[in-house]
Amino acid sequence: MTNIAEVQFMIILTLGFLTKSCICSGENCCFNSSRIDSYLEYEPHPSSSKNLHHLFQMIREGTFAMYDYGVWKNLMHYKQRKPPAFDVSSIPSSLPIWMGYGGNDALADVADVQRTIKELVSKPELLYLENYGHIDFLLSTRGKEDVYDSMLAFFGSLGKTSSY
Ligand SMILES: *[C@@H]1O[C@H](CO)[C@@H](O)[C@H](O)[C@H]1NC(C)=O
Repeated sequence: MTNIAEVQFMIILTLGFLTKSCICSGENCCFNSSRIDSYLEYEPHPSSSKNLHHLFQMIREGTFAMYDYGVWKNLMHYKQRKPPAFDVSSIPSSLPIWMGYGGNDALADVADVQRTIKELVSKPELLYLENYGHIDFLLSTRGKEDVYDSMLAFFGSLGKTSSY
């Protein structure tokens, strides 16, 4: 069951997405705060409580694992008492990966991103932007220069032409 603290955190998280400075998602450097009304037409959008509950399970346990149904249901679902961990190392090394992350992102923070990078078999192409918070990756006014040029160059370097 989702407890009250989790519900409060969800609300803060949702509201915090759209502020320039937020303890949850980190301080965003390049977000245009005079456009908040326009963004609020699309955000927040719904997610299931099970999805958020799953997130909190992983935060509490420090794991990156499937949903924990409790011992008996886990036995039915997974044939084991604990939910199986997602095996990041099973992502094939042949899969090209580009990752961008920000020094001010409190949701996907640097320690967590580095932990994921360490678990990957392949060496992803990395873009680190020290002043970027969580929302900047989507809504930065300099997103094209800071993020998308690098991402598109990466896709372009893969040498396959698109049918689009
Ligand atoms: C910020 O948003 C306002 C309102 O849409 C717009 O007039 C202004 O040009 C934007 N500033 C930047 C730097 O994009």
